[in-house]
Amino acid sequence: MATTPATTWDPNLYDSNHSFVWKMGSGLVELLAPKTGERILDLGCGTGHLTAQIAESGASVLGLDSSSEMIGQARAANPGIRFDVADARTFAVEKPFDAVFSNAVLHWVKPPEQAVARIHAALRPGGRLVVEFGGRGNTRRMVAALLQQAHALGHPDYAIPWYYPSIAEYSQLLEQQGLEVLRAELYDRPTPLEGEEGLRKWFTMFCGSLLDRLTSSQRQQCLAALETELRPTLYRDGVWFADYRRLRLVAVRTN
Ligand code: BEZ
Repeated sequence: MATTPATTWDPNLYDSNHSFVWKMGSGLVELLAPKTGERILDLGCGTGHLTAQIAESGASVLGLDSSSEMIGQARAANPGIRFDVADARTFAVEKPFDAVFSNAVLHWVKPPEQAVARIHAALRPGGRLVVEFGGRGNTRRMVAALLQQAHALGHPDYAIPWYYPSIAEYSQLLEQQGLEVLRAELYDRPTPLEGEEGLRKWFTMFCGSLLDRLTSSQRQQCLAALETELRPTLYRDGVWFADYRRLRLVAVRTN
């Protein structure tokens, strides 16, 4: 889940309130179709749920994440799997992998070219990349409301920390670095958040880069205003939804 060290992650909060991240990643594991004996790298593995699912196929998996807290939890839950702390922009592997897998991570990684270079180096020629993350238009309404609050609370310089590329943009990045795109899809995936507090918990978990700049009363004001602004569009039948839009790609290393 984390791949650059700028954000501090709370693995318990992540697993208790944001389990949809890995639960919804199961379809991506099916697309990866890991096989016995393959060597697979899970980049941004978080607390290791999908890494464990990949390992069930009989593949040998390495999980990497920049958060030592997440890696600590992943190791404790999966003693038979290797997990290391590493940054997606700088990691290096001892031996190339048959596949690199990554779910809900690459929108955190800037500059993206660095991660693509490391992914390319981590794959054997012919090895595959199977990824999904926030694509162009992801969290569009949530971002607009957040920027509006940043302005209203005296932080007009605030910029979101995420990178949400289009199919064309990310395919070009991959192709420039020796990865041929076989399949790419950009699709809306409204994602239910847990409980009446789901929206504010999402902003609290992921938007520290703005909320940490606020006083505690400004913070409460901001979270309440976000709920008011987003309720007409993102609260349906008693459930909050994040307006997620995913970019899913399969590519192979050609050289
Ligand atoms: C996402 O999975 O799309 C996402 C998660 C946290 C912050 C921004 C986007």
